[in-house]
Amino acid sequence: MDTQREVWSARSVFILAAIGSAVGLGNIWRFPYVAYTNGGGAFIIPYLIALLTAGIPLLFFDYAIGHKFRGSPPLAFRRISRWAESLGWWQVGICFVIAVYYAVIIAWAARYAIFSLGEAWGDDPEAFLFGNFLQQEDTARVGFDLVPGVAITLLLIWIATLVVLAFGVQRGIGASAKIFVPLLVVLFLALVIRSLFLDGAAEGLTAFFQPDWSILTNATVWIAAYGQIFFSLSIAFGIMITYASYLKLKTNMTSSGLVVAFSNSSFEILAGIGVFAALGYMAAVAAVPVDEVVSGGIGLAFIAFPQIISAMPGGPLFGFVFFACLVAAGFTSLISIVQVVIAAVQDKMRISRLASVALVGGSMTIVSMALFPTTTGVGVLDVVDKFVNNIGIVGVAFAAIVATIWFLRRGPEFVEHLNSVSSFHIGIIWRLCIGVATPIVLGYMLVSEMITLVDEGYGGYPTDFVAGLGWAVQIALIVLALALSLLPWRQGTDLTPPKHHEFVNPGGHR
Ligand code: ALA
Repeated sequence: MDTQREVWSARSVFILAAIGSAVGLGNIWRFPYVAYTNGGGAFIIPYLIALLTAGIPLLFFDYAIGHKFRGSPPLAFRRISRWAESLGWWQVGICFVIAVYYAVIIAWAARYAIFSLGEAWGDDPEAFLFGNFLQQEDTARVGFDLVPGVAITLLLIWIATLVVLAFGVQRGIGASAKIFVPLLVVLFLALVIRSLFLDGAAEGLTAFFQPDWSILTNATVWIAAYGQIFFSLSIAFGIMITYASYLKLKTNMTSSGLVVAFSNSSFEILAGIGVFAALGYMAAVAAVPVDEVVSGGIGLAFIAFPQIISAMPGGPLFGFVFFACLVAAGFTSLISIVQVVIAAVQDKMRISRLASVALVGGSMTIVSMALFPTTTGVGVLDVVDKFVNNIGIVGVAFAAIVATIWFLRRGPEFVEHLNSVSSFHIGIIWRLCIGVATPIVLGYMLVSEMITLVDEGYGGYPTDFVAGLGWAVQIALIVLALALSLLPWRQGTDLTPPKHHEFVNPGGHR
């Protein structure tokens, strides 16, 4: 038993940190666009069904593994079975890949917070973004020519992240969540309220919520809903396993999960309202329908919002707060993603937290700095992001369920563990969701996404570019995971499942 494992000081700190992880870039810029393009108001139905049948069940699945087996993903899965360890390393690899590009988007947002004050983009936000600021080449390739303005900001983001992580679970991650999560809620609420008073806000909201019921028979809409829930709730890629492993024994796990899941979805819907109210204003100013001003991904935050900021009264302050919210939301998520890798290396090598932060943080910073703040970084980011989300996360979630629930038949044990500490009990419904509904949906998503990517490629990029950054990276993660799981654990690591009375802090926080 590892007597040194860190613990959260209170359940509320864990909940705040889990919300900090869940609420991220995915909520603010991804959700509004995904909802809008997938049926608007009608998207709420697949979204809620995805939340209830897969999101919350998988969150409980992660909690059960992390809390009962008390380890980073490789250690927790190793304690479930000798053969399951590689699943943990696969999740660790996914976190590594996400972290290295997620950080650069936060760096862009940090620069845009400052740019907003002087509306630095002038009359043409698009040319400013890709030309002046990101200095992107036209050809898709992997180059290493740094763009100093982005690189320096990215380095600062990495330093801030690693400093927080060096302080540890309670004094670093917990303390930063206590500051950033409430700050984010207050600032974001102010933004949404301000947006609602803009001319055209009502038209924006009508466009957003106008239900298109015909989409309910469309498989891609359901895939979009499930994909959004996985990324947004931070489930299935190791984060919640890691965070749950720092909880004391008597912790009300399922109730905590419900608080986290519903807070995350509320924030997401709030973001949709705020973003579409602002887009409605932009459409009113340009005297065009709302659908002509809607864009997704990078375009929404870094092109459409600058246009809104330039047009509205008090725009610079509004813009500063909007981008500060993106930074705050992204920062607490980035911390959680990096922590998965740090905890795994710490557990396997039995080294101190500081040594692991230096080793993991140093490698991530180097990879992140080499690939993304460059004149070719946007294309690289786009492909890596697409594959790690749609193939990597979905693949590992499917494999983890098939291995632990179908083959190792650990479902009843997970239920018993969660029920022994929680007030909200789970049973047959959870088992049906996790054992039947979720794997069917995940398997379908995986196969259909792979077929589409093979047939159509992605984003019009050259085939070898997509093959190298998309397929090869995902295959490499699996091979590496298998290899790492074969390395021996350091002597003295207890690989047997902890007994209840062996918990470091048998006490609890309910
Ligand atoms: N859950 C995080 C997000 O939504 C990763 O961005």
